[in-house]
Amino acid sequence: MTKLLQTIEPILWRDERLHLLDQRVLPHKENWLEFHDSDAVAEAIKTMVVRGAPAIGVTAAYGVVLAAREAWFSAGENWQEAINPPLKRLAASRPTAVNLSWAIDRMKTASASLSKYESPEPALLTFAQQIHQEDVKANRTMGQYGADLLDNDSIVLTHCNAGALATAGFGTALGVIRQGFIDGKIEHVYVDETRPWLQGSRLTAWELMQEGIPMTLQADVAAGALMASGQLDWVIVGADRIASNGDTANKIGTYSLAVLAKYHGVKLMVVAPTTTIDWSIDNGSQIPIEQRTGSEVSEIDGRPIAPSEVHVSNPAFDVTPAELIDAIVTESGVVRSPSKENMKQLKSEEEK
Ligand code: MRU
Repeated sequence: MTKLLQTIEPILWRDERLHLLDQRVLPHKENWLEFHDSDAVAEAIKTMVVRGAPAIGVTAAYGVVLAAREAWFSAGENWQEAINPPLKRLAASRPTAVNLSWAIDRMKTASASLSKYESPEPALLTFAQQIHQEDVKANRTMGQYGADLLDNDSIVLTHCNAGALATAGFGTALGVIRQGFIDGKIEHVYVDETRPWLQGSRLTAWELMQEGIPMTLQADVAAGALMASGQLDWVIVGADRIASNGDTANKIGTYSLAVLAKYHGVKLMVVAPTTTIDWSIDNGSQIPIEQRTGSEVSEIDGRPIAPSEVHVSNPAFDVTPAELIDAIVTESGVVRSPSKENMKQLKSEEEK
């Protein structure tokens, strides 16, 4: 039980450096990388050393601390101007997860109130650590809210990795599954392998197996047959950006699961902190969808599996319309049957 509550934390600040658990080589190697410059942090986000919307946000906050250190050393009292180019590069590292720009904006606001004559690093580090701790706390709250929606002995399916690895710790969708398992609500978890990057087989399976939560890995294309068998109660996923009407961008394949779930009467739960909600957009059509390199589809571990020169489409995310979602679980509360109106109630809860 204690082990279930103390999950791996993939982001550490130690000895004035950022340390990230390299998610590209899990589960076969547990390799930590050290970062002392913000451009290297931007590259780590782009290349998925660290991934998952909340983890990207927390990492970016520490990236701002490193950018501030560089700006102070290079520009002294002009550090507030010198910090802008590296922050732009950090913000451009991945486009869909809104937690990235949320964290950078919050750090920028904090930096605006600091003296130009002193090193901004100590104060900004405190802000980044606050963002880090708030994410863990939000995950634990969501874990309980989501678990409370489940009946005893539920059978669930999850897609991608929305676990401890994708956050500062504990996880969003996997936080609900962890808490649900502790509370006797989870009998079994089906895990989609999640082509093309295989977050399900490489990361989610690793997290669940380490904790002894009963699970079965399946190819993404097996989801329809699983639902038709009548065994499944819920699909539980995370999110990269939620529009103000509840439309949700998440890992490619989530939309297909949502359509299948509706047809088969299986419920769909989206679990995400309020930092993943983009109140500035009306609906999901305004969410930028990242296109990643075609080699993620045409190769496996650097080995070509398709004819060379093949044309590939590799959108990393898709958008699930709010009407296909039964509940959006956040740390500020649960939105059932999300819509513009129901999301507004959450916003007023959040502003209290
Ligand atoms: O491309 P990734 O691995 O960063 O995509 C991750 C997802 O789609 C997750 O479901 C989402 O970020 C939520 S993580 C708590």
